[in-house]
Amino acid sequence: MPAPTLLLGQTLSFVKNPFAAPLEEAVRHHRHGGVLITAGKITEVGDGATLKAAHPQAEVVNYGDKLICAGFVDAHVHYPQTGIIASWGKRLIDWLNSYTFPEEMRFEDPVYAAEVATRYLDLSARHGVTTMASYCTIHPESVTAFFSAAQARGQRVVAGKTCMDRNAPEGLRDSAQSAYDDSKTLIDRWHGVDRLSYAITPRFSPTSTPAQLEALGALWAERPDCLMQTHLSEQLDEIAWVKALFPQARDYLDTYEQFGLLGARGIYGHAIHLEPREKDRLRDIGAGLVHCPTSNTFIGSGLFDMKGLIDNGHRVGLATDTGGGSSFSMLRTMATAYEVAQLRHHPLHAAELMWLATQGAAQVLHLQDQIGNLAPGLEADLVVLNLASTPDIAQRSKRAEDLWEALFPTLMMGDDRAIAATWIGGRHHDAQ
Ligand code: GUN
Ligand code: ZN
Repeated sequence: MPAPTLLLGQTLSFVKNPFAAPLEEAVRHHRHGGVLITAGKITEVGDGATLKAAHPQAEVVNYGDKLICAGFVDAHVHYPQTGIIASWGKRLIDWLNSYTFPEEMRFEDPVYAAEVATRYLDLSARHGVTTMASYCTIHPESVTAFFSAAQARGQRVVAGKTCMDRNAPEGLRDSAQSAYDDSKTLIDRWHGVDRLSYAITPRFSPTSTPAQLEALGALWAERPDCLMQTHLSEQLDEIAWVKALFPQARDYLDTYEQFGLLGARGIYGHAIHLEPREKDRLRDIGAGLVHCPTSNTFIGSGLFDMKGLIDNGHRVGLATDTGGGSSFSMLRTMATAYEVAQLRHHPLHAAELMWLATQGAAQVLHLQDQIGNLAPGLEADLVVLNLASTPDIAQRSKRAEDLWEALFPTLMMGDDRAIAATWIGGRHHDAQ
């Protein structure tokens, strides 16, 4: 067996959910800590000097004052939108039509799909993102490209073929039958292979006929260990459109629920403008909600009710929603989540933000037993944060009196310069 690796630095891990327990109980911080990695897994977390003495054969990487945490988990992205991120000035539906759909059309070409998959995984790793749940395009080739690129890196990812059989241009529509068949073939090829898992992916109810939603609901019932990801209640005009398309539905969620697309392994992106019935159903079923703050402000969608939903018992994770979101960075995403919550008079604590970007997102993906924390037995996906990465941040963090004051400026002002290293499956990601 190869020698273990011992990373030294400050360490931050969660023992409990900081939304539910006092900080001192929820968080474990070692000022001079260590993380021992053996064969791709975290085997010990503790005092650095003690670990060093106990494992003299370990290869040591000393990060000094930097902060070692779980790698970031991005619970909702569209890797095919990498090339059109930050496109100016549209609301959801015309943004989809003018930027997104023409770009997604290009993924019929497997060479282009492979190029963007590689570019996206490099960019996200530079931002410390080690796992993501990505939408692909309607083309099975786009899924193959993404899973192949992730597999080659030993990376844990969730992905699925986006299904659309209406309200999308020619060349970007499948059918109820082909969506079912292609998704099933992809599940059988990729789901559970190495660190890859499949999410059945109807884009959102406006782009699927009832027949397609029904077919995908039936597929989920046949493959219940898969995740299911979709969009829910992002913009008011989108919700009005859903009402017009599904006049018999009780609400937006019902357009999924009536076709078997509501479940605990369901991941519902945005979830901003929810009706009381929708909230109750989502909570009772234990579904995952994904907050995509830079997208919600960029496309002008609305203010996610973090406090109301957490207090109501929902599972919530954080995501970039690249390229509706305007950044690949989970630091920028945490900053915007903080600002959105401020507008709802709920100041999120740095520990809560970090939890949402790691453990919370991992829980939404049902991957909390594999990733999302620094804990023995979990896979060694880590990010190392430089808490003084720019003069602007350094002059503030050097006055800090505790970890949170030292970390918060990086959450608010940090970018890829704050990411000192990213480790994926126990291996240092070199394309920094
Ligand atoms: N709703 C349906 N598709 C999309 C998408 O690609 N991005 C966002 N932000 N919302 C969507
Ligand atoms: Zn999205």
